[in-house]
Amino acid sequence: MTTYHNPVLLPESVAALVKNPDGTFVDATFGGGGHTRKILDSLSSKGRLLSFDRDADAQQNIPDDPRFTLVHHNFSFIKQFLRYYNALPASGILADLGISSHQIDEGERGFSHRFDGPLDMRMDRDATLSADVVINTYSENDLAKMFYTYGEIANSRKLAAAICSKRTGKGIHTTEELKTAIADCTPKLTPAKYLSQVYQAIRMEVNGEMKSLENLLIQSADVLEKGGVLVVISYHSLEDRMVKNYMNSGNFYGKKETDLYGNLNRPFNPIPGKPIVPGDDEIQQNRRARSAKMRIAIKN
Ligand SMILES: C[S@@+](CC[C@H](N)C(=O)[O-])C[C@H]1O[C@@H](n2cnc3c(N)ncnc32)[C@H](O)[C@@H]1O
Repeated sequence: MTTYHNPVLLPESVAALVKNPDGTFVDATFGGGGHTRKILDSLSSKGRLLSFDRDADAQQNIPDDPRFTLVHHNFSFIKQFLRYYNALPASGILADLGISSHQIDEGERGFSHRFDGPLDMRMDRDATLSADVVINTYSENDLAKMFYTYGEIANSRKLAAAICSKRTGKGIHTTEELKTAIADCTPKLTPAKYLSQVYQAIRMEVNGEMKSLENLLIQSADVLEKGGVLVVISYHSLEDRMVKNYMNSGNFYGKKETDLYGNLNRPFNPIPGKPIVPGDDEIQQNRRARSAKMRIAIKN
C-alpha cells in the first residue's frame, strides 16, 4: 500500500501549535492525518481537535478518538463550523496548504502531468469548476493571466494561445491531450518543471486556493483566543506572501497601520525572523518538503 501523505515539518509545527494541551485545536488541512495524529498525541483527555478537508478521500484516514471531529468542508467556512460544533474560541490553528501525495498519485484525479487522466483537479468532487471547464471555456486573456499569476510562467501568452487554438473542435479533455497541445511551449530541457508550473496554476484556479486562504486568515483572527497560535505551512510564493503580510500587518498588502498612540493595529504578532524551512535530512526523505515555508503568529 502506498503512503497517503508524508507530513512536512511535523514535530516543528505541532510543538509551535500546542501550548495548552487542554485546548481546542483546528487542523485546517487533514489529508492523511499525519499532523492530526501528532496533535492528538500532544493533547490531554480534555483537549479537542477539529480537522477540515474538502476531499472525501481523506475520510479513509479518520482516527478512532473521541476528542476528534472531521469536518468535510472548505476551511473557508472555519468560523461557521467552529460555532456549529461549539468549539469557540480555538487555542490553535494549523494549515498545511496545497494537495496531498495521494491526490497527486491518483491518475484519475488529473492533478499530475505524470499520469494520463481526465482534466479534473477538483479537491472537492462535488464542485462545478474543473480543469476541463477552465481549459475549454476560459478566454485566452484569462488563461494567460492565470498562468502568469499562479504559475509564474514567462511565456504565458504563447501558452494560452496554443491552448485556445488546439481546443477548437473536440476540445482538450485529458492530461495527455493538454501535454500534446502545449508541446511547442514546453522547454525541451526542463519539461517537468514547466508542466508542474502549468498544472499548479490550473489547480489553484480550479480550487480557488488564494481566496480560501484569504478567508481562513481573516477568520483565524476571529476564532482564536488571545494568545492562540496560527501556524501556516505554504509551498508557493504567492501563498507565503499572503500569510506573511497578514501576520505582519493584518492586511494582504503588508501596509502597517497604527492607532493614535502609535501601536500597530494588527490581530497577530508574528514570530520574528525568517520562515522555518525543513532541514536537509527531511528534504532528502521527502522531496515535497523542499519548497515548504512555515510561519507562526500569536493572536493579540
Ligand atoms: C498538504 S495536504 C495536508 C496533509 C496533512 N497535513 C497530513 O499530514 O497528511 C492538504 C490537504 O488539505 C486539503 N485542502 C486544501 N485546501 C483546502 C480547503 N480550502 N478546505 C479544506 N481542505 C483543503 C486537501 O484536500 C489536502 O487533503
